[in-house]
Amino acid sequence: MDKLVIEGGKPLSGTIRIHGAKNAALPILAATLLAREPVTLRNIPKLLDIEVMLDIMRDLGCAVLRRGDVVTIDGTVADSSHVPERLMRLMRSSVFLMGPLLARFGEVQVYQPGGCAIGERKIDLHLRGLAALGAKIEETGSRIVCKAARLTGAEISLDFPSVGATENIMMAAVMADGRTTIIGAAREPEIQDLQRFLNAIGAKVRGAGTDTITVDGTDNLGGCDFQIIPDRIVTGTAMVAAAATRGEVTLEGAESAHLISLIHVMRRAGVHIETEDGIIRVGAKGRPRAVDRIVTSPYPAFPTDMQAQLMVLLSLAGGVSVIKETVFEGRFKHVDELCRMGADIRIDLNSAIVRGVPRLYGTAVEATDLRAGAALVIAGLAAHGRTIVEQVHHIDRGYDEIERMFASLGGDISRVSDG
Ligand code: EPZ
Repeated sequence: MDKLVIEGGKPLSGTIRIHGAKNAALPILAATLLAREPVTLRNIPKLLDIEVMLDIMRDLGCAVLRRGDVVTIDGTVADSSHVPERLMRLMRSSVFLMGPLLARFGEVQVYQPGGCAIGERKIDLHLRGLAALGAKIEETGSRIVCKAARLTGAEISLDFPSVGATENIMMAAVMADGRTTIIGAAREPEIQDLQRFLNAIGAKVRGAGTDTITVDGTDNLGGCDFQIIPDRIVTGTAMVAAAATRGEVTLEGAESAHLISLIHVMRRAGVHIETEDGIIRVGAKGRPRAVDRIVTSPYPAFPTDMQAQLMVLLSLAGGVSVIKETVFEGRFKHVDELCRMGADIRIDLNSAIVRGVPRLYGTAVEATDLRAGAALVIAGLAAHGRTIVEQVHHIDRGYDEIERMFASLGGDISRVSDG
């Protein structure tokens, strides 16, 4: 298992380019199964989750070719609609395949993806949406089989603006008979990118980015050449690392419009942030100010995927901050590790009370999930002394060689492979 070795205390400085968005690429890769011609996707990052998804697509019979960050997929030769359990358990995002496979083959077999370090991760909203489109759903143990000779457009109301459920329903609906309306839809930029992709292959999707999305079914979906949006969470992670190490960093190929809530919170903490077309500049000289209340909530509110990273910055602030996590029930696994580095954080139900300390101290810590791991890397970069981050495979799911990104900004960080 790889480890990251970090000698902290050095302010980050320099310029990096942000890679493509994992959470846009995953549903769009699944959606290529709907195209009747080959599709070229650009800005596809090299991440564990992406490689697992490409393996699943190959397992389904698709022709997949990767050249750098360009992936060409011919889904027309796919000949299976059964997602293997071993791959399903490896990555819960394979649940995105349900909609396209059901629309394409009239049947799909998947397995309950199971919970993970951050929560139960139910898929009841996905299944309810597909059933509303006419799918018959049979659950036997962890195996789920959905069948529908033909899907029919419907009005679907989501109890919670689930990103994955919104995306699955959008993809299932593009070939359904008639109109589908999703009420209470998620509004994330990745949903908007999926709409852009679906319309590029000839679908008729409207409203992504608002809480109501309509899809008018059509059969003639062709191919396209499409570029994925930049990863807003990788962008935010680099921004927080620059501030926590009191550095000066420029991020290129970044979309500041996708990070308004984070930018506002960081400015309240005293971080200097300038934005212009495709560029974000972040600088911090002194200790951050405490921010008394941050609540994670669906987009455009403060993103749950930035909660752990921001907690590191506020653990160094002058004063007490409160962070409330309302999206996932188990997303505080990083707190114990940060406290072992000298942070003063107390959990009260789904809120973290963060009493800022002057500095953190390096020690051996363990990544428990993707964003908690990224937060521990930021803490190591800001801390005094050496930090060893273990279980780095969690981080590799969402960051393309995180050590290279921060080393190019002057961070003293390297990867040690245990073979
Ligand atoms: C997506 O996960 C992202 N993953 C997550 O990013 C992100 O944290 C999350 O959206 C929220 O923004 C991808 O896009 C691949 P949800 P998803 O459905 O779709 C409950 C990362 O770090 N829920 O919006 O799984 C669920 O339990 C990852 O990149 C149901 O109850 O998120 C959770 O509490 C982590 N029933 C909440 O909704 C359902 O059917 C949010 O889930 C579906 C979800």
